[in-house]
Amino acid sequence: MNNSSSNRILILLFSLLLISPLALSWKKDEFRNCDQTPFCKRARSRKPGACNLIATGVAISDDGDLTAKLIPRTLENNEAQDPPIEKDNSKPLLLTISVYQDGIFRFKIDEDPSLNPPKKRFEVPDVIIDEFSSKKLYLQRLSEEKIDNDSEYSSVVYLDDDYEGVLRHDPFEVFVRDRVSKKRVLSVNSNGLFDFEQLREKTEGEDWQERFRSHTDSRPYGPQSISFDVSFFGADFVSGIPEHATSLALKPTRGPGVEDGFSEPYRLFNLDVFEYLHESPFGLYGSIPFMISHGKSRGTSGFFWLNAAEMQIDVFGSGWNAGEDKIMLPVDEHRIDTLWMSEAGVVDAFFFVGPGPKDVVKQYTSVTGRPAMPQLFATAYHQCRWNYRDEEDVFGVDSKFDEHDIPYDVLWLDIEHTDGKRYFTWDKILFPNPAEMQNKLAAKGRHMVTIVDPHIKRDDAYHIHKEASDNGYYVKEANGKDFDGWCWPGSSSYVDVVNPEIRSWWADKFSYDQYVGSTPSLYIWNDMNEPSVFNGPEVSMPRDALHYGNVEHRELHNAYGYYFHMASSNGLLKRGNGNDRPFVLSRAFFPGSQRYGAIWTGDNTADWDHLRVSIPMVLTLGLTGIIFSGADVGGFFGNPEPELLVRWYQVGAYYPFFRAHAHQDTKRREPWLFGDRNTELIREAIHTRYMYLPYYYTLFREANLTGTPVLRPLWMEFPSDEETFSNDEAFMVGNSLLVQGIYTERAKKVSVYLPGEESWYDARTGTTYKGGKRYKLDATEESIPAFQRAGTIIPRKDRFRRSSTQMENDPYTLVITLNSSKEAEGELYIDDGKSFEFQQGAYVHRRFTFSSGKLTSSSLSHSAATNTAVKSSTVLPGSTVERIILLGLPSSAKSAVVEPGKQKVEIELGPLTMRRGQTHMYPTIRKPNVRITDDWTIQIL
Ligand SMILES: *[C@@H]1O[C@H](CO)[C@@H](O)[C@H](O)[C@H]1NC(C)=O
Ligand SMILES: *[C@@H]1O[C@H](CO)[C@@H](O)[C@H](O)[C@H]1NC(C)=O
Ligand SMILES: *[C@@H]1O[C@H](CO)[C@@H](O)[C@H](O)[C@H]1NC(C)=O
Repeated sequence: MNNSSSNRILILLFSLLLISPLALSWKKDEFRNCDQTPFCKRARSRKPGACNLIATGVAISDDGDLTAKLIPRTLENNEAQDPPIEKDNSKPLLLTISVYQDGIFRFKIDEDPSLNPPKKRFEVPDVIIDEFSSKKLYLQRLSEEKIDNDSEYSSVVYLDDDYEGVLRHDPFEVFVRDRVSKKRVLSVNSNGLFDFEQLREKTEGEDWQERFRSHTDSRPYGPQSISFDVSFFGADFVSGIPEHATSLALKPTRGPGVEDGFSEPYRLFNLDVFEYLHESPFGLYGSIPFMISHGKSRGTSGFFWLNAAEMQIDVFGSGWNAGEDKIMLPVDEHRIDTLWMSEAGVVDAFFFVGPGPKDVVKQYTSVTGRPAMPQLFATAYHQCRWNYRDEEDVFGVDSKFDEHDIPYDVLWLDIEHTDGKRYFTWDKILFPNPAEMQNKLAAKGRHMVTIVDPHIKRDDAYHIHKEASDNGYYVKEANGKDFDGWCWPGSSSYVDVVNPEIRSWWADKFSYDQYVGSTPSLYIWNDMNEPSVFNGPEVSMPRDALHYGNVEHRELHNAYGYYFHMASSNGLLKRGNGNDRPFVLSRAFFPGSQRYGAIWTGDNTADWDHLRVSIPMVLTLGLTGIIFSGADVGGFFGNPEPELLVRWYQVGAYYPFFRAHAHQDTKRREPWLFGDRNTELIREAIHTRYMYLPYYYTLFREANLTGTPVLRPLWMEFPSDEETFSNDEAFMVGNSLLVQGIYTERAKKVSVYLPGEESWYDARTGTTYKGGKRYKLDATEESIPAFQRAGTIIPRKDRFRRSSTQMENDPYTLVITLNSSKEAEGELYIDDGKSFEFQQGAYVHRRFTFSSGKLTSSSLSHSAATNTAVKSSTVLPGSTVERIILLGLPSSAKSAVVEPGKQKVEIELGPLTMRRGQTHMYPTIRKPNVRITDDWTIQIL
């Protein structure tokens, strides 16, 4: 059978798969498990104490780093041997330790270039931000000390006032410890599982090829994997390492307590997984090798390994090493051991000492970059479907939103809008006037998004393919020809975005003159960038394919999608005047993706389990820098029952990225298709999001400045409340709002835990609940439970319009919930919602405090103060405060005085929200006549 007919059969097979989504599900056999992955199998079979390396030649280098050589213990006495013994792993490895401001400890381990290894190992460029190097602290000295009854010395370096870094020479171990108690915080190789397969020449008769199903990986460089154990001390659980569909606190994959389906390590290998399971350590579309531990006693720590090859990570259940005679540290129940295994690359790893949850995300994002500040419209509701058929369909959907009084900001077009899956083109019959179409939507303040994928149709008449093939811009096969695989357009090649020149070329394709039919209201969606290759091994690219610089695909697989996302985002930056914040949604991701746009959790399924798992997935992404994410509302595959769809809207309205999306073969499910009552419920869910947009935008700015996620696990706000540690059904939106999802059909009751000592106010009814308790509440159809924490102030906009952009000048409502000391505080961030001018200070950042019966609005930063005048006179002319609702205020309060102006205002009773049928009334100041950008106070009399 020739290639093209076998390909045709494949295409047929794939179309069959797509036609009957319900008949088929996750194809386990398409993917390798650890036993079928030789490096994983080798690493997993090692015993504690197997590592025989010791550190020698420890010194401080001219660059202010600690350097050492790692050599096998048996070699110690023949160090003088020249040349060094040419055996597998007997050459010395180089270890470099560096320390940075804010408690960041970095160590690198690589082969010694002076010993001429066959190839330079790949180190991932373009992830660590440039500013990070300026935070390096130059080590001056190290001290030597005997620890843990060792016969050899250890070297100790300063990390910060509270922590020290230690290199233990024999046995080799790198750890960070508390300076005073000397207790370990994070450690590598405390179980002696470290192994580093050095590159070498092939010996006679050796076969390096690996076969999986019909695919052969030539593996020209042979074994080169790295594995080691990382221990988290004082930890009650570990979290992070997306992307997996599983709980927020990671379940053990080895040792006691391994649940069914969790005997494989957590895999980090970007894959296009058809109908993924809702509960599995199987690796999905993106990879972030960053793990966070948290414990009541010690706090929060983080470990990050910058490596883009396939990784597998085991989490050991407590007691996994019982009976092992070589364990090197006493068993400790508040210690979690993990095993990290990668197919290639080097060790370039970071310890973050916290000690709070927000400190760790700040430390991690100071290395990989703070999240981009999105445009305001992107934080509102997005309507997507594979596919809105044609322009008429687009206008029909658009006008139905208006007819049903449901706001939305963005309409999306999937692959069918193109001319034969040629990206940057339009189907001439279905979309004859794309620019006019976008302009019509833009007139209502709405935007469009089109899809642009990395697989390029091999068609000489297609200009992108012509240029790419003429210039040699495609990823190559091991034999040097353009890699040719199957994807949506049929025979396709993949742009080699690892090369900066090719990224720059790609970015130019987004200019208005090259992307014909695009306008300034059009933004971008990158799908299939794992990359997905229908006929490739594990539905991806062969590992021996070659990138720019002769780097094998195996070495950077997990970063490919990141580079594609980066190139597309830079494209939007380049087009026009460069003063418009890009919006690019990507399915694949890697550390640093937070700088380029939003992420969604891929092709989920319309069932309750997938709704349920979307929350731990979004929370995990947020902990690892990806603060702008969400799951497809409604579920991509299958047809949700109306009740599930409504519940999904109610949960999804709180996702940082809020988009409904559906597979081509599903029934239409726009919000008005399920009867009046369901339309009303969905409208209400979407209204809730629009009401909270000022609060969300403020949280996005907080993330942009500090890395703190928009959606947070409860333990991020209540780090010493153990009751929150395993709770991933509820979440915090910022520090003020707690939301509990409903994940079951026809729920009558919903159980919700409210942490802390202070009270909570039901965000709909205002009813108060004491904190530190679990409640069984009646589940209502209208909404899922949401509570505002006592002591907070949330800014809202309560008037509903067609889109967020049309709300720009609307007045604000402040909802103040007083705590037991009758105090509260909150913030509001405003800028033009679009441009980069906020980085020159064109923003308003207000702080509201309520104390001693007085509400004060002041400017949070000096930079804002000086620019208040600019902003208030230009962009925000009409923004006043129209209502202040005071929950927890004694009913005796009847009036208040506004300063400046000594204006007296009444305190009336009013509803908490604009929803119909509100019966509870609360003290409200209507029209206090103050501008949001000014300084003022309101004293309750
Ligand atoms: C060091 O030796 C003492 C006395 O034998 C023992 O009690 C202690 O547990 C040892 N410490 C470690 C860390 O092995
Ligand atoms: C905030 O967002 C902007 C725009 O996306 C980005 O350029 C900047 O690096 C981000 N971080 C900070 C600290 O401003
Ligand atoms: C009440 O809230 C204020 C403002 O958030 C806070 O400073 C104060 O500590 C809180 N009081 C109590 C008793 O928690």
